[in-house]
Amino acid sequence: ANLSSKGLSKKFGSVFSVHFGMKKVVVLCGYRTVKEALLTLDEAFGEREAPTILQEQTKGHGVLWSGGDSWKEMRRFALTNLRDFGMGKKASEEKIIEECQHLSVVLQQFKGEAFDMSNAITFAVSNIICSIVYGSRFNYNDPEFRGQIGRADALNHIQLSVSTQLYNLYPSLFKWLLNRRRILNISAENKKQTWSFIHHLKESLNPETCRGFVDTFLVRQKHLEDSGNTDTHFHDDNLVHMVLDLFIAGTETTGTTLRWSLLLMARYPLIQDRVQGELRSVLGGRQVQMEDRKNLPYTNAVIHEVLRFSSIIPMALPHKTSRDVTFRGHLIKKGTTVYPLLVSVLHDESEWEKPRSFHPDHFLDTDGKFTKRDAFMPFSAGRRICLGETLARMELFLFFSSLLQRFRFTPPPGVPEEELDLTPNVCFTLLPPTHKLCAVAL
Ligand code: HEM
Repeated sequence: ANLSSKGLSKKFGSVFSVHFGMKKVVVLCGYRTVKEALLTLDEAFGEREAPTILQEQTKGHGVLWSGGDSWKEMRRFALTNLRDFGMGKKASEEKIIEECQHLSVVLQQFKGEAFDMSNAITFAVSNIICSIVYGSRFNYNDPEFRGQIGRADALNHIQLSVSTQLYNLYPSLFKWLLNRRRILNISAENKKQTWSFIHHLKESLNPETCRGFVDTFLVRQKHLEDSGNTDTHFHDDNLVHMVLDLFIAGTETTGTTLRWSLLLMARYPLIQDRVQGELRSVLGGRQVQMEDRKNLPYTNAVIHEVLRFSSIIPMALPHKTSRDVTFRGHLIKKGTTVYPLLVSVLHDESEWEKPRSFHPDHFLDTDGKFTKRDAFMPFSAGRRICLGETLARMELFLFFSSLLQRFRFTPPPGVPEEELDLTPNVCFTLLPPTHKLCAVAL
């Protein structure tokens, strides 16, 4: 996690290469460099590099690990449908608010005793994707729902294991590793269950009232089939992988950020006081809504600072150059893997007054008004910018504000705030260290 732009650039420059096994990859460091590559030269730096194990699972379908025309069409379709889910922004806002109530009930059941909130948060954010993709949420105890979350978790763990990384680097040498089989089996099981959900939706499809993303995809697919268009990217493999990608990309990210936000509130009680004071004075006791965000500058600044400080996807996802490109004096060949170090942007010492501290004032002007910052790039930038950014921001604002309206988050009894550890667990994402907190009802 110690990837400050100053430290790394001082040692290696803002563009440098490292060897991952036999492979040379290019690393981009610091706000100006990352911005120039991803925004000014986005067509050269905007392809995706999929690790071998993910190529095997996706075969170029979906949106996360794909490229070319298929990616373009799937991304465009998903963006349009995620923007309004075919049902208007209001509908997703209502779904998130409904899920906040369910999450609050779970937190309430612990009656202020310390517990690890990870599962409850994962269930809530997974349900948002379920509502958007399938059109309905699941009961937290539903075995199919639990099964899907359990498999996603298992896949995540094995895919990050040392043996899988070895396989990604030297596929022919490590092909027979046990983990590769396990990954492909779990992934096949995931696809099977996703298919069964899609199948149910297909049987009761009504083109006049699309329930969610799957319905809109099926309607488009049918429309193209009926008009005799066989050469289309709207086929079953893309549908199933789009669904899986939305779950993979949209669950752990939002859940991890929410967990960071609650941990940081418990660690910094004066900041929590100020958020709760603002929520109380602006909203009284009523449920927070999206349109309140403009009147809640401090709360908004805190959420932005959580995203900046935690920098949960430190290296973005691997990019690939689409052509030879000369960048800041370096010739980077077509097809080279490139990692834009987002953490070096979010902690860039020339951009942030206190890059290493949790300091919501980064996003406030001298009058206490919310202020945007150019180097705020937790969702990356350019062609491959996070497809779920709008949804993620909506979820973070509504979940965070709703929870803080209802509960005060504190360390377990006897643990002083300063002893709450903020050192991230370095995985592919930067996870908050495992911890228990109390949610004391207000
Ligand atoms: C890609 C961050 C939530 C869907 C990404 C990338 C980042 C990111 C850094 C990689 C961009 C790149 O390669 O340059 C986040 C954060 C989130 C979040 C911090 C929450 C706090 C979501 C949600 C969804 C989503 C809720 C979906 C509903 C995607 C997809 C991609 C992506 C599909 C791949 C886009 C592409 O390759 O074209 N996200 N994300 N993300 N994200 Fe998110």
